[in-house]
Amino acid sequence: MGLFRKKQEKPHNDGSLRSVAIIMDGNGRWAKARGLSRSAGHVAGAKVVESTLSVLREYGVEAVTLYAFSTENWNRPKEEVDGLMKLFSEYLSGELAERIISSSTLSLRFIGERDRLPEDLRVKFEEIENKTAGRPFVCNLAINYGGRDEIVSAAKRLAALEREITKESLSEMLYTAGVPDPDLIIRTGGEKRISNFLLWQAAYSELVFTDTLWPDLDRAEIERCLLEFFKRKRRYGGLNAEDLKEEAGKKA
Ligand code: FPP
Repeated sequence: MGLFRKKQEKPHNDGSLRSVAIIMDGNGRWAKARGLSRSAGHVAGAKVVESTLSVLREYGVEAVTLYAFSTENWNRPKEEVDGLMKLFSEYLSGELAERIISSSTLSLRFIGERDRLPEDLRVKFEEIENKTAGRPFVCNLAINYGGRDEIVSAAKRLAALEREITKESLSEMLYTAGVPDPDLIIRTGGEKRISNFLLWQAAYSELVFTDTLWPDLDRAEIERCLLEFFKRKRRYGGLNAEDLKEEAGKKA
């Protein structure tokens, strides 16, 4: 069957896809299906991060924001939370950290409330951010991130500075300041919700949901998600150029 399967059309980035955000869901179910612990599912999930970034980079994406740990994830069993913190710490040490730091293109940033995170992790965040700043391909890792908290703290900072609250000034106070809002948000794992992720930035994002569990995400599935995005007509609440032309051709 493989021999005769129709080759999938390749996505082409016409410049409309600059920023992608991903809700990496399904690690627990992936592990359960294999009789493994949830933590083993997260370890498998971490392995997919690098390949996903390189496929998106190949398609000309400039910024990727990954939801790794939400403010609500503290409610999971202590063992799972500890396992995730250890995973983040290991992920940002050793050989992989070396590769991130020595890359000439990748700028790794961390978004979320750092105060509640282990000290060693906070130190690593700072070190990696400082060493990779200013590079063209930005990856934001959202850890202890909550969209509503982000908006509240941005508003509080503006108030403390006695600055006027406008859409622009508020955007400047978000963790993602300077990074384009996501054109596309992908959620793996079959659920269809936004789960407090990038609430402000997602105003005009296209949402693509895939049933694929995060550890199973591969190039073919990413390309399917990108194709779905490129087939959408984005209107930002108005009409796109094609619709306007069609409308102009009609009689009043
Ligand atoms: C949701 O799956 C996933 C998480 C809460 C953790 C996401 C973490 C990773 C993908 C790995 C770590 C990443 C880095 C950068 C080291 P779930 O546990 O809710 O899965 P389920 O819905 O199947 O239970």
